[in-house]
Amino acid sequence: MKMRIDKLLSVCSIATRSESGRAARAGRITVNGVAERNAARQIDTERDEVCFDGARVIYREHVYIMLNKPEGYVSATEDGRDPTVLELLPDEVRRAGMFPCGRLDKNTLGLMLLTDDGELAHRLLAPKRHVEKRYRFVCRNEVSEADRQALETGLQLADGYMTKPAAVELFDDRKSGIITLHEGKYHQIKRMFGAVNDNRIIHLERITFGPLTLDESLGRGEWRYLDDDEIAALMAAGNL
Ligand code: URA
Repeated sequence: MKMRIDKLLSVCSIATRSESGRAARAGRITVNGVAERNAARQIDTERDEVCFDGARVIYREHVYIMLNKPEGYVSATEDGRDPTVLELLPDEVRRAGMFPCGRLDKNTLGLMLLTDDGELAHRLLAPKRHVEKRYRFVCRNEVSEADRQALETGLQLADGYMTKPAAVELFDDRKSGIITLHEGKYHQIKRMFGAVNDNRIIHLERITFGPLTLDESLGRGEWRYLDDDEIAALMAAGNL
């Protein structure tokens, strides 16, 4: 694929476009062993060997982004009414075919994976191998030990669906804690709490998704590219 050097370095989360320009002028970028002072030069990702500070830059076919989702955004690629999580990415980062891998409600916060890798998403979310997800929650009423056990064992939602086993850790106030799921039905956690003692979730934030952990240095609405270790861990989780 033909691509500008500064775009390649940005996609590979090595340098922003302006940093690439400075690095090129400083002689830190080579193409096929020769210093390239113009970061706007087009290269061929299959044929040319680009190095940054001597390290080979490998172009990836797909893009993997961690987003700290804020409230008010919907997990969709398009929505007639509300802004979508994709709108939080700058134009040059948004790729055709990108989508949120899994859904969070409009008022749920936290870790969201954005990618254009449909095969990986399918494997991570398929019911058989659905990856583990952990959420920090706050609910309206204290959760009794019996209710905690019901949430863990599995319970029947209003539509008749039996939830799979989950893990529920309660903090001292018994109104907040961490819930771990291996499935993702519509409004699942809210409906699970609604099914025990008419409880109600008032804050929900996803903190892990499979092997990924929310990077706490990302403010709400901020994002970053996944690093190589995170991508490798996701591939392993998807058996790819
Ligand atoms: N469960 C919910 O109820 N909402 C979410 O956004 C995620 C899990």
